[in-house]
Amino acid sequence: MPNATASDNRASKRGRGRLAILPRLGLVPSTSEVVNGFLDGALPAGQAAVLDAGCGRLSALVSFRSRIGRLVGVDIHAPDPPLAWLDSFQVADLCADADAFPPASFDLVLSSFTVEHLADTWTAFENVGRWLRPGGSLVISTVNRRHPFVNAYLSLPTALRRPLQRAIKASAADAHPLVGSCNTPELLRQALADAGFEKIEVRTTGNLAHAWRRRLPSFVLGLIGDLAAQPFASRRSTIVAIGTVAGG
Ligand SMILES: C[S@@+](CC[C@H](N)C(=O)[O-])C[C@H]1O[C@@H](n2cnc3c(N)ncnc32)[C@H](O)[C@@H]1O
Repeated sequence: MPNATASDNRASKRGRGRLAILPRLGLVPSTSEVVNGFLDGALPAGQAAVLDAGCGRLSALVSFRSRIGRLVGVDIHAPDPPLAWLDSFQVADLCADADAFPPASFDLVLSSFTVEHLADTWTAFENVGRWLRPGGSLVISTVNRRHPFVNAYLSLPTALRRPLQRAIKASAADAHPLVGSCNTPELLRQALADAGFEKIEVRTTGNLAHAWRRRLPSFVLGLIGDLAAQPFASRRSTIVAIGTVAGG
C-alpha cells in the first residue's frame, strides 16, 4: 500500500515538527530526556547485558547500543519484521513466564510504556527483579492515572476505547489492551518496593502532546492536557521510574 505508507510518513514528519514547540512552552524535561538520563546512569561500564521488556517496535536503548554487549527483547508478540538492533528476541509473558530467563541474566531492564498493559504488574516486577543481577536496575515509563485525561481514557469501556486508541496510535497493531492497575506514582513506587527494588526514584513528565502528535486535533488536546498539569508534578501524564536490585 504505497499511498498509505507515504501518507503515514507525512503524518509522522508533521508530528515530529510539532514537537519543537513543547520546550518553548515549558514542557520540559521530555519523557525521553528523563528515560535517557536514567539509562545513562544505570548502564555499567563495559559491555552490559540488557533486556527490553515489552519491546514492541521502538526502543530508547538503540542510542545506547555501543555500550550494550548483549541486547535481548521480550514481548508477547514477535516483532514483524524482526528488530535489527536486538541480538535475540524471546516471546514471553512478563506476568506469567517466570523462567523466561535464568536468574541474574541482565545488568539493566527497560520497560517502556508496557506496565499499563500488564495484567499482574506485581508478578512482572518480581520476575524482572529475579532476571536482574544484584545492583542491576529497572527503568520504567508508563502512563499516570492521576492525569484526568489518562484516567478518563483508561476508564472508558473497552468497546469505546478501542476505536479511539486506533485513531491516536500510529497503527492498529500498536493498540494493545490496557489495564492500568498500577498507574499512579504512589502505586508504582509501592509495587517496586514490594518486589524488592531499592533506591527507587519516581519522576513525572507531560507526554500527551508527544504521544498524540500525529493528528493536529489530538496534538492540541494533548498540549492543553500537558500545559494544565505541568505545575502539578503528581498529575503529569507520564511516570518515569527507576529501581535497583539490592547488592552488587
Ligand atoms: C505500547 S507498546 C510499547 C512498545 C515499546 N516498548 C515502546 O516503547 O514503543 C506495549 C508493548 O508491551 C507488550 N506487552 C503487553 N503485555 C505484555 C506482557 N504481559 N508481557 C510481555 N509484553 C507485553 C505489547 O505486546 C507491546 O509490544
